[in-house]
Amino acid sequence: MDQQVWDRAAPQYDEEIFDTFANDRHKVLQKALDRLIAPSHTVCDFGCGVGRTVPFLARRAQRVIATDFSLTSLEVAAENLPQLRNVQWLHRDLAEKNRAFCRADVGLLMQVLIMPDARIRQGILETVYRNLRKGASLLAVVPSLEVTLLTYQRIGQWYLRDGSSAREAISHMQDSAREEIVSLVEGIVNISDTPTKHYLREEALILFRESGFRVLELEKIEYAWDADFEDAPRWMQDPYPWDWLIVARKP
Ligand SMILES: C[S@@+](CC[C@H](N)C(=O)[O-])C[C@H]1O[C@@H](n2cnc3c(N)ncnc32)[C@H](O)[C@@H]1O
Repeated sequence: MDQQVWDRAAPQYDEEIFDTFANDRHKVLQKALDRLIAPSHTVCDFGCGVGRTVPFLARRAQRVIATDFSLTSLEVAAENLPQLRNVQWLHRDLAEKNRAFCRADVGLLMQVLIMPDARIRQGILETVYRNLRKGASLLAVVPSLEVTLLTYQRIGQWYLRDGSSAREAISHMQDSAREEIVSLVEGIVNISDTPTKHYLREEALILFRESGFRVLELEKIEYAWDADFEDAPRWMQDPYPWDWLIVARKP
């Protein structure tokens, strides 16, 4: 999941990359941002991609720094959003240990800590920490490993409802798991053939705590089942799939 992969994805981002912000059923992330951003604030969108959340942030904060290591994503963003005067687009590799480039009051780190290499994820988290002022808030969104397992249960249920035997249903669950799970112990699961880090709730809690943050809230951002299945059946409703939203403070 290097820079070139994200550069290649940039022109067709909306078709290829799931839009967390738009699909959040209860607008949990928007509400949390509304609660935490004051008009005088500097907000940093760490790993902003093509800047899907940037207009929302720019309407609420005094200044937005939107940063990514994919130059193509930043170009697409600046082209799509030229009218935003309080936004600065910054090309940075967050995994590298460079001098701080901002002292943000609020940081957003949405679907960025998803690469399989734990050292790269740790490097990014250290950069984020360095670029927040003391007392700043961080909102991070990461994929849930619990949902991966729940999805297999849903597949089994689906086969049973369609008349398969228990054995057949289990066999289909196992086929899906074999195709997708790269490393269960590390939480690495293929999403569209890309190995992607997923987190248990408590694992996310430990990670942010051990990286120096005080975790204030850890809640679900829920989506429709259509996010996981094409043509999800109508009976497949609550509980819905989710990502974890971590709201933390730099002490
Ligand atoms: C799944 S996308 C999420 C983009 C955006 N936050 C969103 O939710 O729409 C992950 C983004 O993280 C960026 N990224 C990954 N590793 C990075 C790194 N080391 N430094 C800066 N950006 C990085 C990618 O270029 C990509 O734009």
